[in-house]
Amino acid sequence: MILKNIRVPLVGILAFCVITAAAATRTEEKKPPRHGIKQPHPMHTPSKEYILYKDWRQPVEARVEDLLKRMTLAEKIGQMTQIDRVNITSQIMKDYMIGSLLSGGGSVPKAHATPKDWVDMVNDFQKGSLQTRLGIPMLYSIDAVHGHNNVYKATIFPHNVGLGATRDPELVKRIGAATALETVATGIPYAFAPCIAVCRDPRWGRCYESYSEDHTIVQQMTDIIYGLQGQPPSNYPKEYPYMEKGKVLGCAKHFVGDGGTVNGINENNTIIDWNGLLNIHMPAYLDSIRKGVSTIMISYSSWNGVKMHANRDLIINYLKGALKFQGFVISDWQGIDRITSPPNANYTYSVEASVNAGIDMIMVPYDYKGFISNLTLLVNKQVVPMSRIDDAVRRILRVKFIMGLFEKPLYDYSLADKVGNQEHRELAREAVRKSLVLLKNGKQPNSPLIPLPKNTTRILVAGKHANDLGSQCGGWTIEWQGMSGNNLTKGMFKGTTILGAISSTVNPRTEIIYSENPSTELINNNKFDYAIVVVGEPPFAETNGDSLNLTIPEPGPSIIKNVCGSVKCVVVVVAGRPLVVEPFLQDMDALVAAWLPGSEGHGVTDVLFGDYGFTGKLARTWFKNVNQLPMNVGDQKYDPLFPFDFGLTTNPIPKDY
Ligand code: GLC
Repeated sequence: MILKNIRVPLVGILAFCVITAAAATRTEEKKPPRHGIKQPHPMHTPSKEYILYKDWRQPVEARVEDLLKRMTLAEKIGQMTQIDRVNITSQIMKDYMIGSLLSGGGSVPKAHATPKDWVDMVNDFQKGSLQTRLGIPMLYSIDAVHGHNNVYKATIFPHNVGLGATRDPELVKRIGAATALETVATGIPYAFAPCIAVCRDPRWGRCYESYSEDHTIVQQMTDIIYGLQGQPPSNYPKEYPYMEKGKVLGCAKHFVGDGGTVNGINENNTIIDWNGLLNIHMPAYLDSIRKGVSTIMISYSSWNGVKMHANRDLIINYLKGALKFQGFVISDWQGIDRITSPPNANYTYSVEASVNAGIDMIMVPYDYKGFISNLTLLVNKQVVPMSRIDDAVRRILRVKFIMGLFEKPLYDYSLADKVGNQEHRELAREAVRKSLVLLKNGKQPNSPLIPLPKNTTRILVAGKHANDLGSQCGGWTIEWQGMSGNNLTKGMFKGTTILGAISSTVNPRTEIIYSENPSTELINNNKFDYAIVVVGEPPFAETNGDSLNLTIPEPGPSIIKNVCGSVKCVVVVVAGRPLVVEPFLQDMDALVAAWLPGSEGHGVTDVLFGDYGFTGKLARTWFKNVNQLPMNVGDQKYDPLFPFDFGLTTNPIPKDY
């Protein structure tokens, strides 16, 4: 549904509505509802009363106001409530008029759930919501942050830190579109992506979710919103939420300054003046709003000691006031509980402070009765004004009308085969190729090791990360924290390990010896033409990834020393951020930052063996030692091992070579 001239003065809106309504009664129904399933025309109920908000031909704002004035306080607060799906039934959705559900990381219908299982689950909850008095459909959301990553056999794309190294917004837009398609295929219309954090310290456990330390790269990568939601036409209001049919709502997160906390401590305090916040952490929000992002999620962190979840000045006065954001603002998971220290010390205060700060939808996610009763009490005592409730519900309804949820609340199985399809895997493989950064190539000038020869007698592949799809994908994959190993027994992943890619790339006559941690005997008793050493970090998410030392976990360093001390070696680092490599650099013939490449390991061998050239550029400064941190491009004191924007290039080997 494309809206025209939305931001006209009120009288214009009224006139506009009258004009449109008149037009609607005159013209035959030009467009069928937004899905194939024929349903009784939504405009007329059995009583034959005309219900404006159910008429898809009415202007969005008219539908919003018509529905809002019909709603009770309980119905309004229900819309502001988002809960996790676990232990929820469609009856609860109906009885409590819950406006939104989510799958927290790993919260799936069942292990190995197929797209049809997902569609059935979401539709079942939706049917409960559609049975409420006003029939307001609920909004189902999920963290599809590097593909539809909770879902069995979905395509897993590189995490954002790798995408920043591609410097390719068009690629990232295509990834957004593929992610949207796989998400819609499971009946889910809302993704908590993109994370537009500007990670200023790699000790932050979520740094891999950030495209770059440089806000200009993060700004460019907000083009993913066009892929997720669709691209608004040029005459579409810039601050207005947007979503096309067959797409998903996006969510720019986490507002604001999540990547700037002290020592990268997750959910901690970002100490920076207003200009610093505006110049580093805010620009990508202006781009996201301009590109029509429909929702914005608040950060757990604080700005100069003020919790963002209670920051009325930044949410109401700046985001909604100065920036005129017209979508809805959502809290993070138990984000309001963490306003107090310890968390939940005074939940009534948390509800009051967060809602009065301008948060529209609260990701509760479990105690919905507690949230609803507290907010009801606060409104009845006029501690939270009804005008604040109405602003929140107006924004939520606006998004639900714009995305066509009233016309198409239920999904079907028609896109099921899009999940993990070959086209998306090829796209992911392209993204891996373009994300890898070649940091060293040869111990002597003009003695490059890369591209590696495919036709050799014997090669050594060493390190657990060569044969570990879970670590290759990182956190936010199947489980919230990710899953190391290949889980082939549980069949959780479909993809190619780096070892698997090597095996199918080198000449079949080449002997490949693989060892997670090769012994001195193995190394010395065989003549290897070269070795590929793949080391890195285990999967993790959020605070579990905070690290003050950023060392490569053992036996990584030992493997590097043992192997590279005897065999020509390329070291491939699988990690969501720069790690301590300086002490081992002189041992290596070549060094590659692979970041967290995801399911398509072939993207790594494509550039290692020269089918494609290396093009990636560091989107993050690679430090010498952690005592230098934080250290970012532009700092006066800047003495990196590899500077921001560094990356060696190689030429692809001609196919007929
Ligand atoms: C998490 C994250 C946020 C995510 C949300 C829902 O704690 O902070 O990025 O979207 O909860 O899973």
